[in-house]
Amino acid sequence: MLIKDNDKTQISENGRSRMLTEADVTDESVYRRRRKLLKGMGFIGASGLLWANGIGGISRAKAASFKTTAINVVKSNADSVSDTLTPESKVISHNNFYEFGAQKHEPAENAQDFKVDPWSLTVSGEVEKPFTLDYQQLFTLFDLEERIYRLRCVEAWSMVVPWLGFELGKLIKRAQPTSKAKYVAFKTLYDPDQMPGQSSRFLGGGIEYPYVEGLRIDEAMNPLSLLSVGLYGKTLPPQNGAPIRLVVPWKYGFKSIKSIVEITLTEKRPPTTWNMLAPNEYGFFANVNPEVDHPRWSQASERRITSGGLFTRNRIKTQMFNGYAEQVANLYRGMDLTKQY
Ligand code: MTE
Repeated sequence: MLIKDNDKTQISENGRSRMLTEADVTDESVYRRRRKLLKGMGFIGASGLLWANGIGGISRAKAASFKTTAINVVKSNADSVSDTLTPESKVISHNNFYEFGAQKHEPAENAQDFKVDPWSLTVSGEVEKPFTLDYQQLFTLFDLEERIYRLRCVEAWSMVVPWLGFELGKLIKRAQPTSKAKYVAFKTLYDPDQMPGQSSRFLGGGIEYPYVEGLRIDEAMNPLSLLSVGLYGKTLPPQNGAPIRLVVPWKYGFKSIKSIVEITLTEKRPPTTWNMLAPNEYGFFANVNPEVDHPRWSQASERRITSGGLFTRNRIKTQMFNGYAEQVANLYRGMDLTKQY
C-alpha cells in the first residue's frame, strides 16, 4: 500500500513521534487481494473504503498513551532464533487486530484506551481442575522467559519478535486434561464498547466476533507454543494482544490469537475465525508451507518487515514450518499437507 501524503499517520515511540512509513505497511498486492475477498463477500463496502482513507475517524492520530511496564525475565530459551530482530517501533505499529480496525496502522491508533486490568482468563472444558486467572496471575503463575521467534503472516510478510511469556503446555497441565481433551479452543474478549471493529462490519473486516482459534492438543503441548504477556522486555501493548496472546511460530500469524479470555479443552475440533470466513483459503492447521500457495498468492517467499521495503526485491525465501521443522514436523507425519493446510 502506497501511503499518500494525506494518509500519513503519526505514531509515538519512546516519547517521540514519527510518521508511519511505507516500511510499516504490508505488501500492497497481497493486502488488496485479501480486501478484495472481503469486498467480494460483501463485507467491505463504500463506508469500508471511507474508513480505509481515514474519514471514518476514530482517534486517527492518537499518540501511544497505553502504559506498558518492565517485566522480569527468568531465562532465555534455546529455541530463540538468531535472525535480526524487527525494531520495536515496527512490531507495535504494523498490526493485525481487526477488533481495532482492519488496516495495519489502526490497532495502534484505536487500542490505546483498552482496559486490561482487571482481566480474567478461564481454563475449562475437558479438564479435572478448571481455573480462572486474574491480571496479576498472568505474570506470576509461571516463570517468564524470553523467546525470539519468527512470525510469518499468511499475507506473506514476517517479523522477528522477542516475546516474553510461558509455555502454553504448562497452563494446560495445571488444569489436568481428561482423556477426552483432543483440542484446545481459544477466545478473544468480546467487548464492542472497547473494540470498535466488533460493532462495525466495515472497520472489523466482516469477521464474526469474538475471534476464535484452536490447536490440536499435541500442537498445544509442543514446547514452542507460547502464551505471551510481553515483548521487548515490557508488558504487551494492546495492539499486540494485551494482556495475553498466543504465539505459535510455525503457523501463519492468524493462529496467534490476541487478548485471550477463554481457553477450553474440547473433544471436537473447534471452529476458527478465518477458516469459517474462507475455508478454501485458511485451513485449520495453517502451518507455514512454502509449497502450498494461498489460492490468490504465492507462499514461497515473504517480505521481512525488519529491513523494510515494500517491493519484491527485498523478499526472502519462506521456510517449511517457518524454520521450525526440527521441532514440529513429527506432529504431521503421514498427513497430506496439501489437503490438510
Ligand atoms: N487476534 C485477534 N483477536 N484478532 C485479529 O485480528 N489477527 C491475527 C493474529 N491474532 C488477529 C489476532 C493475525 S492475521 C496476525 S498476522 C497476528 O495476530 C499479528 O500479530 P501482531 O500484530 O502482534 O504482529
